[in-house]
Amino acid sequence: MATRSPLSPAINPIEENRQGIIGKPLDRVDGPLKVTGRAKYSYEYRGVKDTTYGFIVGATIGKGRISAIDTSRAESAPRVLAVVTYQNAPKQAPLHPREPGPSRFDRSEPFLFSPEVRYFGEPVALIVAETFEAARHAAGLVSVRYVKDPQAKFDLMTHQSQAYKPKGVNAGMKADTSEGDFDGAFASAAVKIDVTYHLPHEHNMPMEPHATQAVWEGDHLTLYSGQQVAAWAQSSVAKTLQLPLENVRILTPYVGGGFGSKVPIHAQAVLAALGAKVVRRPVKIAQTRPQMFANTNHRPECLQRMRLGATKDGTLTAIAHDVWSQTTPFDEFIEQTAAFSRVMYAAPNRFHRHWGVMLDLPTSDIMRAPGEEPGSVAQECGMDELAVALDMDPIELRIKNEPTDDPETHLPFSSRSLVECYREGAQRFGWSKRPKRPGTLRDGRWLVGYGVASAMFPTYLRPSAAAVRLNADGAAIVKTDMTDIGTGSYTVLTQVAAESLGLPTDKVTVELGDTRLPKSAGSGGSFGAASAGSAILLACEQLRSQIAQLVSKDRRSPLAGANVGEVALRGGNVVAGEKSESLQAVLSRLAPSGIEGKGEHQGAEKQPKYSSHVFGAQFAEVGVDIDTGEIRVRRMLGVFGSGRILNPKTARSQLIGGMIMGIGAGLTEESVVDPRDGSFVNRDLAEYHVPVHADVTQIEAICLEEKEPYANPLGIKGLGEVGIVGVAAALANAVYNATGVRVREFPITLDKVL
Ligand code: MOS
Repeated sequence: MATRSPLSPAINPIEENRQGIIGKPLDRVDGPLKVTGRAKYSYEYRGVKDTTYGFIVGATIGKGRISAIDTSRAESAPRVLAVVTYQNAPKQAPLHPREPGPSRFDRSEPFLFSPEVRYFGEPVALIVAETFEAARHAAGLVSVRYVKDPQAKFDLMTHQSQAYKPKGVNAGMKADTSEGDFDGAFASAAVKIDVTYHLPHEHNMPMEPHATQAVWEGDHLTLYSGQQVAAWAQSSVAKTLQLPLENVRILTPYVGGGFGSKVPIHAQAVLAALGAKVVRRPVKIAQTRPQMFANTNHRPECLQRMRLGATKDGTLTAIAHDVWSQTTPFDEFIEQTAAFSRVMYAAPNRFHRHWGVMLDLPTSDIMRAPGEEPGSVAQECGMDELAVALDMDPIELRIKNEPTDDPETHLPFSSRSLVECYREGAQRFGWSKRPKRPGTLRDGRWLVGYGVASAMFPTYLRPSAAAVRLNADGAAIVKTDMTDIGTGSYTVLTQVAAESLGLPTDKVTVELGDTRLPKSAGSGGSFGAASAGSAILLACEQLRSQIAQLVSKDRRSPLAGANVGEVALRGGNVVAGEKSESLQAVLSRLAPSGIEGKGEHQGAEKQPKYSSHVFGAQFAEVGVDIDTGEIRVRRMLGVFGSGRILNPKTARSQLIGGMIMGIGAGLTEESVVDPRDGSFVNRDLAEYHVPVHADVTQIEAICLEEKEPYANPLGIKGLGEVGIVGVAAALANAVYNATGVRVREFPITLDKVL
């Protein structure tokens, strides 16, 4: 029977960290496989026999309908096996309802189901051919005529006045919250700011494009598909194709990044399954980089109005955060952008509100720190603007307004080390050298400035299960359908199991990314390590208890008669007090065919008693060229209070990876919409500028020692997303400090500071 309580006091074996494995900077256990090309990603996997190639044909209008489609030339092109359109596609479930249910990722996602075109680049045909080249060639031979909808809307600023009020926002949060009397408090505030920031659409752009191979055996479907959450992909595919859940298997052992965009299933997954059904052979499809701009996730463009009122000494009395963001007529996604300001600072009078603006664009969806990242721009640039108005140090302003409990829920924080992060960071970064007046520090042709901003991300715990098997030779195999999207899941979960079982890490093998394994939360919401790790902890505890019972009842064991609760697994031995026997000896005698433990938990309590988040302080130094306005990041430091660290090496990689992505949000990334047809104009990595090596100079992330007693039995806080939060604001604040120019239009490109 599986142990069920994630928070049971009996389950905290790493409290003492007896093996010293948790907290070690273990190299990635999957690293050698990846650098030698032996880790096969979805499209590369060669175990599928007789495979064929799919190529997606996308709509070339933004909204309207197909009036005629001629596939004859494509069908008769060499090596083409089929052309699938809405006219001959296999039956699928209807499109999910517009308003998201409990999960927007666990729902039907049909394609090629109607002549309607909802957005530029929406699939209108799938070519299946013997070779990739043949499929791509034939894609150019499909002739489609459209009737355009003249009412199509593509621009947020033009249509902001038609905004509507959503019932809720992403992650199950409320659209609007309020407390006290903002209007009264703001009107009478001694010092105030009222500013509006504009953030562009951004695209997730993982290294590995979205790719799927589909194989049917009778009415059973296997998809090799890079996904962040295997179980959601399985359920979403099953719903779309109207199959029993158990008929769908998702294999996703290696994933080349996701940043949220591989949480949902996308067109290539569904189309590969449809195509394979039509040609009765396996089909593989990879989206091209330009196709990914229409058919994966993007962070929606938004406008944010921030009003802050304070007393003369800098005590906040009023906070108002209004957000307008892009959504679509066929799918509601409202990024939880005002969630950040709900948690950061205390003020008795406040409101935080969201609006949706329906545009005929691809649906917006989650992208690393959805909500917290854009929301931190308005709140944290706003704090900087208020500090200028108050003539106060921006760090002191934040420390002054540090809340004693969660400003929104009024629950106590389970842990919050934000002030320590600022103090430690200020010391290390040399904050005292920051120019007090903008535009006063020169280094050759560069104007130099410093900026700070706060980072925050909620600490989630989601239902997960795991099984851990111990073989008689003392090797352990961990099984869960968790994924590793480049984050280090294989490595940190190896450490959790090794620590709990008292084994060296090379005795532990972790198997992930297969829906036949026990169901986990997967990778998303920064909840992966905590959720899957807690299930593994429970499974190991169950193994320990089984072994304890075996030895205690066995006359031949030196541990015969030992108290079951006192038996521990340590250093490859089974121990109780002074008595000890090797684990291998115990297993070969008492469980020669091996032994398995199962662990399962139901995630966080429905009514939490604590507000649990990871907090951090971002420091940035920029140089702005005196003539050209070119902005260079000279240094960045992130300081985080992040509970126990499972592995400082993978933790640091996650954090600096997030910070680097934050440079993109601050300075380079912007998906530009063509107002004529709603296409994203700059749809490749030559024109959509993610930060590259030359953009990143000195960048460091450190984690303070922090005890997190409540969030999960591992005492950890997820680090996948918090690194990106606050970076764009810290950079904007540094640009202001360097130049005296306050840019409220992101990304901050050189033209905006001149
Ligand atoms: Mo994250 S945007 O929930 O993968």
